[in-house]
Amino acid sequence: DVDSMEKQFEDSFDIGAAVELYQLEGEHGEILKHHYSSVVAENVMKPLYIQPEEGEFNWEEADQLVEFANEHDLELRYHTLIWHNQVPEWFFLDEEGNEMVEEEDPEQQEANKELLLERLETHVKTVVERYKDDVDAWDVVNEVIDDGGGMRETEWYQITGDEYIKTAFHTAREYGGEDAKLFINDYNTEINPKRDDLYDLVKEMLDEGVPIDGIGHQAHIQLDWPTIGEIEESILLFDELGLETHITELDVSLYGYPPEPAFETYEDIPEEAFERQAERYHQLFSLYKSLDDAITSLTFWGIADDHTWLDDRAEEFNDGVGKDAPFVFDVDKKVKPAYWAVMSDETPS
Ligand code: G3I
Repeated sequence: DVDSMEKQFEDSFDIGAAVELYQLEGEHGEILKHHYSSVVAENVMKPLYIQPEEGEFNWEEADQLVEFANEHDLELRYHTLIWHNQVPEWFFLDEEGNEMVEEEDPEQQEANKELLLERLETHVKTVVERYKDDVDAWDVVNEVIDDGGGMRETEWYQITGDEYIKTAFHTAREYGGEDAKLFINDYNTEINPKRDDLYDLVKEMLDEGVPIDGIGHQAHIQLDWPTIGEIEESILLFDELGLETHITELDVSLYGYPPEPAFETYEDIPEEAFERQAERYHQLFSLYKSLDDAITSLTFWGIADDHTWLDDRAEEFNDGVGKDAPFVFDVDKKVKPAYWAVMSDETPS
């Protein structure tokens, strides 16, 4: 029975969470309805789930989330039309079933490119036409810049160059209409050279008339990294391009990267770690609130500490055992120190 985050931030930005379908019910569902004004699919709207085989669209799960959002009057972010991860292999197989790669023969390269762009168009058009009245913001492309800077060398990029990005945005605009809000989304947007390379790409595309409306800063961050200054600088940098800003996947890991050593269980995490995290959340939200002319939506990448992708990451580096705790609700769905920090109006010292 605590004050809702939705109310707290109603004059600043939408506040959302990423969900799996099972979380629409039970305690997660209650938190969602009480505290949030926006929702996004953690997985079910990705190409792997939407079009597992060419031409066979699976709307069942995505529809459930759309219905929930409509029923409870939540904003809906679509994640994600195009990504290199969780994309079915058939996208990259030629008519003979061979993997398409970067070709030396220019004619072959051109044919592959044409085929892949056609598939991309079909995917984007079909999804956007279906959900255009339900979706408030689209992650059109996700994570196109490499962690070390430059374009990420995905199959999309090897086969089409940056054409796949342009085609994705143009197609989304064509079928989504002028009101569709089209986002480019990425992580480590605070860190150079990645930040500036993303900036240059977006600027170049805007100059060419590619319809990009917004930048999604994922914000998978840690207790001391990146600095508040770096986070602020990056938000302001992209804001100057005239883009709308969404924070799309916020979580505050207790660990560095790689996340080792990690606490084995939730009970092993000392109170002090939660206090440090609360401090971090406080500074972060003070910044976000001070930038609420730029930021229109802020989404956590999950609801409560019982369900987070960061556990997989902690386990991966700690022989299969490891627990993270990135959110403002704990494993029992109760508020944490971080919740009070987020809700507090005091300026951090
Ligand atoms: O659906 C299968 C299930 O059939 C199988 O039994 C199970 C066994 O492992 O795996 C299930 O798939 C998992 C899927 O999530 C759905 O639960 C995958 O293994 C797992 O790798 C996948 O992880 C997702 C990850 O993206 C994939 O890269 C995470 O839940 C999701 O939180 C994460 O989200 C990404 C954003 O989309 C983009 N930004 C980074 C963010 C965190 O990695």
